[in-house]
Amino acid sequence: MTTTKMMFDHFGSPDVVTAGEEEQPPPGEGEVQVGVRALAVNQMDWKVVAGYLEPYFPLQLPAVPGCEAAGTVTAVGPGVTAFDKGDEVIWNGMVGGYRAVANLPTAQLTPKPAGIDFEQAACLAIAGGAAYSALVQLGVGVGDTVLIHGAAGGVGTAAVQIARDLGIRVIGTASEQNHDYLRGLGAEPVAYGEGLVERVRSLGSITAVLDTNGGEATTAATVELLGGHGTAVTTVSGKESNAAGIAPVRLLDGRVADAARLAADGKLRFNIQERLPLTEAARALGLSRGGHVRGKLVLIP
Ligand SMILES: NC(=O)c1ccc[n+]([C@@H]2O[C@H](COP(=O)([O-])OP(=O)(O)OC[C@H]3O[C@@H](n4cnc5c(N)ncnc54)[C@H](OP(=O)(O)O)[C@@H]3O)[C@@H](O)[C@H]2O)c1
Repeated sequence: MTTTKMMFDHFGSPDVVTAGEEEQPPPGEGEVQVGVRALAVNQMDWKVVAGYLEPYFPLQLPAVPGCEAAGTVTAVGPGVTAFDKGDEVIWNGMVGGYRAVANLPTAQLTPKPAGIDFEQAACLAIAGGAAYSALVQLGVGVGDTVLIHGAAGGVGTAAVQIARDLGIRVIGTASEQNHDYLRGLGAEPVAYGEGLVERVRSLGSITAVLDTNGGEATTAATVELLGGHGTAVTTVSGKESNAAGIAPVRLLDGRVADAARLAADGKLRFNIQERLPLTEAARALGLSRGGHVRGKLVLIP
């Protein structure tokens, strides 16, 4: 059977990603074949397409972007015992996700709880998993106040809800247009940009920071607000965060299952800003690159 994949044969802006067709072979040793029902778009996807990750993860071109998806197992490869035909699964990887049918290693799969739809499940793999890992790494709990830079994005949306479920007070940065959205998630919103430190201070002291934005100004605000006390982690490490001693988020084993459990309990839900057909992946990547997505973008094969 011929199915659709979205691919690029040279690095560049999102519009280098175009539709192609492929015939998937039967799944190999340790793999299952998955009929993908929904894919979530991540900032990493356009960075991969732009070639920014080449120094760390060299790719063989042509390549298929995409690092998180959810779907149903349609065939099982040799040696696979943990999954069966008909199982609903969540996948998190690095690349290769933007396709209608995918052969995926079982080590990258998490069972999808029955109570979550495929769109929500796809969002859990990276944004949910990273947010969950970050809060564990921060070691925060009741009595803490966490500042989340970029609280309206994919990771931020998940982190606010997980933190609130843990009884943590959350102050979240976003543009004005997302402040009601953040209030709805349970965070106290503040605008980023000039005067951020004073605006946060006017709400009280913070004990930890999750930075999903990165960059010089955000890092400087983190350092000033913590004043040598409390912990900070970032999903966007770079020279500024390294110099400031802000630890990169380490993705924990079991994080996707933990995030999925919260979603199944109704405590974690993603705003889907837009759902697009898989063949419009280039447009989705452009939106993601713009840096102002509220929640997540989803592609439907
Ligand atoms: N290391 C990892 O494992 C890992 C995992 C997931 C993601 N990441 C990285 O983490 C970053 C965030 O990912 P994401 O999926 O949450 O991105 P996203 O969904 O694209 O986040 C966009 C959000 O950033 C906000 N924003 C834009 N400029 C801002 C600023 N100056 N200060 C504060 N917020 C600002 C926007 O809010 P407004 O529209 O209100 O401006 C928007 O809601 C990306 O760089 C991604 O690659 C890393």
